[in-house]
Amino acid sequence: MPSTDFDAGERLAELVDHLHRVGALMDRRWRDAFLQVRRHAFIPDPIWAEDGDRGDGWMIPVGRDDPYWWDNAYTDFALPTQVDDGTPVGEDGRGRYATSSISQPSLVARMLEALRITDGARVLEIGTATGYNTGLLCARLGAENVVTIEVDPTLAERGRAALRAAGWKPTVVCGDGTSGVPAEAPFDRVLATVAAKRVPYAWVEQTRPGGLIVTPWGNDYMATVLLRLEVGENGTATGRPIGDAPFMWLRDQRAAAGRWSDHVDFHAPVRTSRTTVDPHQVVVRGSGAEFTVGTWAPGLCRAWFDAEDASGEATLWLYDTKGSWASVDYVPGATEYEVEQAGPRGLWGEVEAAVGWWQRARRPGRERFGLTVTPDGQHVWLDEPTNEVARP
Ligand SMILES: C[S@@+](CC[C@H](N)C(=O)[O-])C[C@H]1O[C@@H](n2cnc3c(N)ncnc32)[C@H](O)[C@@H]1O
Repeated sequence: MPSTDFDAGERLAELVDHLHRVGALMDRRWRDAFLQVRRHAFIPDPIWAEDGDRGDGWMIPVGRDDPYWWDNAYTDFALPTQVDDGTPVGEDGRGRYATSSISQPSLVARMLEALRITDGARVLEIGTATGYNTGLLCARLGAENVVTIEVDPTLAERGRAALRAAGWKPTVVCGDGTSGVPAEAPFDRVLATVAAKRVPYAWVEQTRPGGLIVTPWGNDYMATVLLRLEVGENGTATGRPIGDAPFMWLRDQRAAAGRWSDHVDFHAPVRTSRTTVDPHQVVVRGSGAEFTVGTWAPGLCRAWFDAEDASGEATLWLYDTKGSWASVDYVPGATEYEVEQAGPRGLWGEVEAAVGWWQRARRPGRERFGLTVTPDGQHVWLDEPTNEVARP
């Protein structure tokens, strides 16, 4: 039960003020839309939260009878709303991984504003989940202009029901959003509220020339960026990163399961060498070096460990899911670092090659890169779409 002084209208107004203050919600018409959508009406019972008593990363359900549920309904946080695809895998019904959530309001607002929407635009949303973001689109554009697709049948039904209860009847489809919704195309905008490693060409095909696709995009190595792509007359879509957008992956593009140590065979024959590339350089969140390494070394994952003593030493672990791994030991003040590699790929060699290219290109920041999506795949470029970056 909510505490007796819970006033949804007041909490919503405070949230909207907050979103304006942090620069996420600047457009008056989006502000009006936010004021029409009560977030708590889209939050299911239960949500999921980390088990603070154990602190081991497992999640427990938190129902509407818990003040935590109400306290968080109008905070600027994403809330997990499903774990383990609906079947918690832990003991006593505990959950391991969040597989659906209601997104962070400031990120929702930034993404909606990034759509540069005009009245009457027709929008396809990928990843309905709770229906909260769909409700905002309905409030801004009218439900008749909104199509949304969710891969999980239970969630699709729950999202549809929450939208109806709030008074909107957009087209809610249950299916794989990587195919778009061809029967409802063309769209003026496609908004993915789930992250892609490969932008599906169906989204390009189903967007009118001049239309925009806004999607979180990335890979297991680097911070996920928010991409805005414009669809051209030639059937391709081109654009740049416009910010950060931490999101869960499209269901068939999920990250490697398990911990880093599950992918490192400590008994494999090891190749030892030394490197002059400082491992810190390639793990700076949002940097051009991180972006270059992440986009050029397919399937690369990483883990960084600082030494527990005061030495300042650290180890970078790199791995893929096919038996290759590398470790680099950082020592403060050193100019060379020890490297160990195992498996068919030379993962640190790939990183060094990418860093070498990035240094020769005069260390471009992430914002100078862009992406073009064509029928044959996605292509990374630097400064201009014609300046495609060929992998070293
Ligand atoms: C972060 S949630 C979206 C948040 C949502 N827009 C909201 O406001 O509550 C991501 C959703 O994308 C869904 N999803 C994952 N892969 C998908 C796919 N291939 N097609 C459609 N939905 C997908 C997940 O099941 C999950 O519910």
